[in-house]
Amino acid sequence: MSAPDLSITLAGIRMKNPVMVASGTFGYGPEYADLVDLSQLGAMVVKGISTEPWQGNQTPRTVEVASGLINAIGLQNPGAEGFLQTYLPFLRNYDVPVIVNIWGRTVEEYAAVAARLSAAEGIAALELNVSCPNIKEGSKSFGSNADMFRRVIAATRAVTKLPLIPKLAPDVFRIAEFARLAEAEGADALAIANSVPAMAIDIETRRPKLANITGGLSGPAIRPIAVRLVWEAAKAVQIPIIGMGGIYTAADAVEFFIAGASAVAVGTANFLEPATPLTVAAGLRDYLARHQLGSVRELVGTLAC
Ligand code: FUM
Repeated sequence: MSAPDLSITLAGIRMKNPVMVASGTFGYGPEYADLVDLSQLGAMVVKGISTEPWQGNQTPRTVEVASGLINAIGLQNPGAEGFLQTYLPFLRNYDVPVIVNIWGRTVEEYAAVAARLSAAEGIAALELNVSCPNIKEGSKSFGSNADMFRRVIAATRAVTKLPLIPKLAPDVFRIAEFARLAEAEGADALAIANSVPAMAIDIETRRPKLANITGGLSGPAIRPIAVRLVWEAAKAVQIPIIGMGGIYTAADAVEFFIAGASAVAVGTANFLEPATPLTVAAGLRDYLARHQLGSVRELVGTLAC
């Protein structure tokens, strides 16, 4: 049997392999380009972009905990013009689909940033961040309220032809309902899921370890939660799902494919070993060969129960 084919087409985007990087864990490209060949990634998903530059939260903004990391960066970013002038030209040097995560404080801001980015060449898709737990207005409030969720997808759908990929919150009561709403409003794929609201306390000072008090937990601790969310959403919709949450190894990624994901994203592991997406892709190829599967598509949604 010839070597398994790792290439996929997701929401019309051709990828060499189904292992992407998760927004917020790989910067905008230059930060990692000396460490990893960006052209080998399935897709490059950049940190969330808003209409205007944004400073994010006060420090400390990250804290390591058992089996993961809690972050409260607060979506710091250079704004749409900063991204288009400084980072997109750099990313165009690589043969990798560029997916831009976007966020806003209002429905109008989501639509404005989506429209501005859609006018540029070289962006493969927009990931709608409606699930960041770390800012007071916008983002998470859209992803936790069905009506606002629907409105923000409809407003961005109206201004762009780019594929839209809402990134869902992990702590909604029924993920299947949000998945169906997104599909009905014209989403092309779903990213499941964002970090899980969490906090850590210094017991000597009795102070929170993060200036923002709460943050989003990512890493191995949340992987079983994310696998379950992908499984529930995959049963509810036809559009493809990008699974993420604590993927460090190919075995971790395989769980997501079996649960129903068509692609995966590596996040927190990139901070420990930036080449993790490449080793996950290589290990996935080995797994497929060992199980005599010709492509990753043959693995998607094959849970036996
Ligand atoms: O920058 C941030 O606070 C991002 C967090 C998230 O989207 O999980």
